[in-house]
Amino acid sequence: MQPDSAALVVRPAVLDDLAELVKIDSICFAAGIAYPDNELAALLKSRSVLTLVAEASGRIAGFAAMGFLPSTAPSQSILGELVTIDVLPEFRRQHVGLRLHQALLERTGLKHGDRLQLHVAVNNPGAFEFYRRLGYKRRERVPRYYLDALDAWRMEKLL
Ligand SMILES: CC(C)(COP(=O)(O)OP(=O)(O)OC[C@H]1O[C@@H](n2cnc3c(N)ncnc32)[C@H](O)[C@@H]1OP(=O)(O)O)[C@@H](O)C(=O)NCCC(=O)NCCS
Repeated sequence: MQPDSAALVVRPAVLDDLAELVKIDSICFAAGIAYPDNELAALLKSRSVLTLVAEASGRIAGFAAMGFLPSTAPSQSILGELVTIDVLPEFRRQHVGLRLHQALLERTGLKHGDRLQLHVAVNNPGAFEFYRRLGYKRRERVPRYYLDALDAWRMEKLL
């Protein structure tokens, strides 16, 4: 199925989506890195995380979540943490991920000067390129970020 961008509907995730999102996450990430049901449920319920889904013809093609971290100093801009972006393999390279990221920025009220960060596994070059394309810059390598074994790049984007 090829969603054209007009046919793609982006909406906030609801708890009824949980089973589908758990399934998608388990397809997108290796066991142990994929979120267990209870952690995804916590994301959906959290008031400091916005989770959006992208639907093509009523089927969820992907989802993305962004959380808000308390700023550490009054002068610092709010830091949003891109928690995850998951796009099902058959919907990849059709700008579903770009649409989800853009929708997160629009719906979270982030503004010029705000900073975003994310972590991406060092063995995930496709996602690294995706984030580079979105304007994230590689910062430091975080040892054993995933499963106390796999390093991650921390990346930042200044809006
Ligand atoms: C990373 C991911 C979210 C990208 O989603 P997507 O919908 O396929 O990405 P888009 O089509 O919006 O890509 C936008 C641009 O990013 C870049 N890009 C995306 N995927 C890429 C890849 N695998 N390799 C190189 N560049 C890539 C390209 O420049 C692309 O534009 P183009 O296709 O016009 O050249 C998707 O591959 C995925 O779900 N992967 C598994 C889960 C994951 O790793 N998530 C991110 C880590 S938290």
